[in-house]
Amino acid sequence: MGALIPETFCRAINVNHVFGGPPYYNQRLYANWQNNEDYLRDMSTIMRNCNEILGGGSVIAWNIANGSKMDHISHHSCLFEEIGFQYVDTIAWIKSGANFDIKRSCHITTTGHYYPALQWEAILVYKKHGPMPKMDSQGQEYMRRFQTNVWEVTQVILQGEKFKHPAVCPVEIPYRCIQSYTKKGETVFEPFGGSGTTLIAAEMAGRSAFLMEQHPAYCDAIIQRWEQLTGKQAKLLGNISHQNGQLHSP
Ligand SMILES: C[S@@+](CC[C@H](N)C(=O)[O-])C[C@H]1O[C@@H](n2cnc3c(N)ncnc32)[C@H](O)[C@@H]1O
Repeated sequence: MGALIPETFCRAINVNHVFGGPPYYNQRLYANWQNNEDYLRDMSTIMRNCNEILGGGSVIAWNIANGSKMDHISHHSCLFEEIGFQYVDTIAWIKSGANFDIKRSCHITTTGHYYPALQWEAILVYKKHGPMPKMDSQGQEYMRRFQTNVWEVTQVILQGEKFKHPAVCPVEIPYRCIQSYTKKGETVFEPFGGSGTTLIAAEMAGRSAFLMEQHPAYCDAIIQRWEQLTGKQAKLLGNISHQNGQLHSP
């Protein structure tokens, strides 16, 4: 695994907000780091690249959860602080829905140990030095409903069938971040495109979005999802050269 955003790509765009949904180490098949050090080194590279393309005062929101044996949330927070991002918030996404309708005593009765089910994820919120972005009137009106840093949002079910991806975030999560930290017409970046949730949220909010995704099949799924939402046809503008970062027409 290496740096996911070549430096040439960094110089090509400027964005007002990053919403990142990184892999939670090797929890899914699309990731296979050798060890936690390599994983955190790659995460740090991506955060640094995001730092380069964000304007002053802009916010990065990062959806990360702990694993059963690792405190990813603390590790990712430390990386943000090392890079020089300023801490803003930790929003707790409480996952609701059928999967969490479990017997809370399940582990206790079968093993005698107390391992509570993981029912929340974090949205780490950091910003670059500079004045915090103000919401526009649409954002203020929308976010008035969500005044605390606990967001209860139903998780996506049948994600593989519906979106051809195993780790789909509900659109509502990036949508709230986009409303909170950008204005209409501004630009969002997602370094972990996945099934395209951030693109869909940006489209619905009237923002532009740049996404990256390493797996071609997920890229196809993103395009299909966007075409279904908008009724438009996606166009290939060209290919970015890995050597010099230039865009070549197809
Ligand atoms: C948690 S998923 C993102 C899901 C997205 N938020 C959504 O709702 O669809 C993480 C994505 O990062 C991509 N990814 C990018 N770089 C990666 C790397 N070096 N190792 C593993 N996955 C990587 C994976 O292919 C995967 O689609």
